Amino acid sequence: MKIAIHNGKRFNIEWRNYCHSNGIAYKLVNCYSNSIIHDLSDCDALMWHFEQENPRDVLFAKQLLYSVQSSGKRVFPDFNTVWHFDDKVGQKYLLESIGAPLVPSYVFYTREEAIKWLEGATFPLVNKLRTGSASIHVKKVSTRAMALRIINKSFKRGFRAFKRKKYLLEQIRRYRAGIEGFECVLKGMRDFIFVPRSLRGLPTQKGYVYFQEFIPDNDHDIRLIIIGDRAFGIKRLVRHNDFRASGSGILRFGKELFPEGLIKTAFDISDRLKTQCIAMDFLHKEGKPLLVEISFGFPYKKFSEECPGYWDRYLNWHEGKFNPYGWMVENVIKINR
Ligand SMILES: Nc1ncnc2c1ncn2[C@@H]1O[C@H](COP(=O)(O)OP(=O)(O)O)[C@@H](O)[C@H]1O
Ligand SMILES: [Mg+2]
Repeated sequence: MKIAIHNGKRFNIEWRNYCHSNGIAYKLVNCYSNSIIHDLSDCDALMWHFEQENPRDVLFAKQLLYSVQSSGKRVFPDFNTVWHFDDKVGQKYLLESIGAPLVPSYVFYTREEAIKWLEGATFPLVNKLRTGSASIHVKKVSTRAMALRIINKSFKRGFRAFKRKKYLLEQIRRYRAGIEGFECVLKGMRDFIFVPRSLRGLPTQKGYVYFQEFIPDNDHDIRLIIIGDRAFGIKRLVRHNDFRASGSGILRFGKELFPEGLIKTAFDISDRLKTQCIAMDFLHKEGKPLLVEISFGFPYKKFSEECPGYWDRYLNWHEGKFNPYGWMVENVIKINR
């Protein structure tokens, strides 16, 4: 068994270190190379942690991974794990189809249908783009007039995938809250003035509009990450005077923060979706969990380094540091997943 690992950052580095320290045969490859398929000929598997905000990756990462999977090799992330990544509209259909507890979500592909639905809608609502992270494209819609403006924009000009002003304000917030150093403000200012060419390449979002019911009284969301037969969790508090937790940077860790029933639900969803790795973000309404989003990736390092331990499938708690990137490699080596 020899694993090809993309020679890149984030999880890619951890996979490579894990293989190196554990005597697992691996080869570094460049997934951007025209000869990538040929380069994989002496390997049994390909692992690539691609980036959702890199337009080059968005262009072809999934297509490459699915092609390699079709040839019979193992890949990470595989089709079941990643086809819905950074695609909230896709996730709506998927989670509805397996009867998962998704926040009630509505999508329309014409202005007329959206406006007709709006007549019977109750407020507040939440509007999102199908792509994006760190809450950047998530807003509360309190009035019909605001919903109408969003609908009109969705079917005319559309929404830019990179919002430089929001991004700068968010970087200032992170600095002020003591979450990051002043470099993050400098980066926000630089990207405000010279929007990186890579980010300019992300497609404008238009031709659809997506709303969700607003789930009130949640001062946090709960992220549970399932990798094979193991789970770990992070509680993310909302920003000051805001309803959005994702990207707030205000995190809490600890076994007691996560009810066992929720961990069971998360294992059950992961089993039904047959995913190799899935982060599930839950809100609560009247004590019942509701999913807002799923994704195969999670912020590199930060989460797992601060978690005091993990659960196995039988909900036994294992105290101590752990290496979720190593679990991913081990699961690729195993036949069944
Ligand atoms: N329908 C909703 N009702 C209330 N709060 C929500 C709802 N959807 C999302 N949120 C809050 O907004 C945050 C960001 O939403 P999410 O859909 O995960 O977007 P992103 O992909 O940017 O993380 C969540 O972490 C949650 O705290
Ligand atoms: Mg999210």
